[in-house]
Amino acid sequence: MKASLIEQVLGNDIEEVLVAPEDIQVKVRELGQQISADYIDKDLLLVGILRGAFVFLADLIREMGIPVETDFIAISSYGSSTTTSGVVRILKDLDDDIEGKHVLIVEDILDTGLTLNYLVKNLSSRRLASLEVCSFIVKEGKQRVPIKPKYFGFTVPNKFVVGYGLDYAQKYRNLPFIGTLRRSAYEDNGML
Ligand code: IMP
Repeated sequence: MKASLIEQVLGNDIEEVLVAPEDIQVKVRELGQQISADYIDKDLLLVGILRGAFVFLADLIREMGIPVETDFIAISSYGSSTTTSGVVRILKDLDDDIEGKHVLIVEDILDTGLTLNYLVKNLSSRRLASLEVCSFIVKEGKQRVPIKPKYFGFTVPNKFVVGYGLDYAQKYRNLPFIGTLRRSAYEDNGML
């Protein structure tokens, strides 16, 4: 069974599950319905931020009852693997011209907000019909810039979390829940 295999292998590294798979499913459905209602008469382009947002975006669009387009942008921020410096570099830009479109940025987690702040500024300069943000997770009390996503799923305490697209050293993205890591999972790397 898939779930128990994940539990046995990756799940062993988890200290605490903060958001369970069933709660994720319910929340994604709610968000999908809310966004669909808000954009019912508009052409909506969802812009996923790689890599972390791909899991959430894939689930979200399947809960949406309106036609949507998707595109992805890949960015790297300078800094260690667990903190953001705010200096952001675009590794892969959007494939299509987005001028005149209603754009919704889809992000995995809002931590300091520096990455989103950069992206909002960057995309705003492209003459959009509208621009909003949907971040699945918002870390409590961590934002260093005044960014408030129009849509969000859950708030989590100020801890490093993995799962549902979120990684530590590129692993744990495939966990079906969001949780914190046991010390043993990262202490060999001397990080966090
Ligand atoms: P921000 O610019 O500080 O808001 O960071 C945004 C990016 O940092 C997210 O899109 C994630 O890729 C990464 N990140 C921030 N916090 C976490 C975390 O707790 N777990 C995994 N990745 C994180």
